[in-house]
Amino acid sequence: MQKSTILTGITTTGTPHLGNYVGAIRPAIQASKDPHANPFYFLADYHALIKCQEPEKVRQSSLEIAATWLALGLDTKNATFYRQSDVPEIMELSWMLTCVASKGLMNRAHAYKAVVAENEATANTDPDKGINMGLFSYPILMAADILIFNANKVPVGKDQIQHIEMARDIAARFNHIYGEHFALPEAIVDENASTLAGLDGRKMSKSYDNTIPLFSPEKKLKKLINKIKTNSLEPGEPKDPTDCTLFSTYKAFASEHEVANIRQRYAEGIAWGEMKKVLFEKINDHIAPARDRYEALILEPAHIEQQLQEGAEKARAISAPFLLELRKAVGIQKMI
Ligand code: TRP
Repeated sequence: MQKSTILTGITTTGTPHLGNYVGAIRPAIQASKDPHANPFYFLADYHALIKCQEPEKVRQSSLEIAATWLALGLDTKNATFYRQSDVPEIMELSWMLTCVASKGLMNRAHAYKAVVAENEATANTDPDKGINMGLFSYPILMAADILIFNANKVPVGKDQIQHIEMARDIAARFNHIYGEHFALPEAIVDENASTLAGLDGRKMSKSYDNTIPLFSPEKKLKKLINKIKTNSLEPGEPKDPTDCTLFSTYKAFASEHEVANIRQRYAEGIAWGEMKKVLFEKINDHIAPARDRYEALILEPAHIEQQLQEGAEKARAISAPFLLELRKAVGIQKMI
């Protein structure tokens, strides 16, 4: 059986938080161990430049994200784990795709349109204020990320579905002009993947500043969990687990049996302070071993680099010959 190629990128801005872990990292690590899959995971550092022009932040985030994935047990034998910038064929393909992608298609990209809409809401400003060409053509770079490895399946959040459709469009256009070179990728959106709520009850997101960093030291983790918003019911008063951030977060880490037990304790009026303690212990026990590995890895960047170099080598064994084929297809080759 032909293994299907799964590919996803992680933009290297920011520090991974519990929401990223539950929604994306944990399922991806699980999938990295599936012998029937051929997973590609990469640090999307060229994507980071679109929204972050602070070199130290991009560097630090790349280190933290790589250490996080390795500490959590990513299977780098089965999966190919690399840094986008170590695979120069991606950038080269990105230009070839830029020359077949229509500008009209890019005009319709939500990420770009959202910024234009914001600008238009502020009267008298330039609609393209603050928009660099990276943001405008970012779906093309994403298409190159995917097409260079002929990925079949791309696990993403809902906000990224449009980009995968654009990658299909661009691939089909290239195939139509130059012959069948690319498989058409498909977005995989896991409807069951939990989205965690943040400290204030809204979706946990860096843009709301309500996150709990995945590998917060124990004390800090406790402090942040204590900050999670609850209603003002007193100890002893029965509580409703629906729409309760403490309960839904607990659910993302506990077994069914444990969840049933806590549901019972809600009915019996567990105090919020007690529930926060229970939640802290649950999360802390769950992540402590990986956190220890993470802290050790961060102090050993050479080890991380080694893993990334091995990944890049595996990736380039595919991308380099494929790019030569594509160059030929478009008419760029040596004279003899
Ligand atoms: N743009 C994606 C995000 O912001 C990250 C990403 C970059 C990606 N290249 C990709 C995801 C290719 C899937 C495939 O989440």
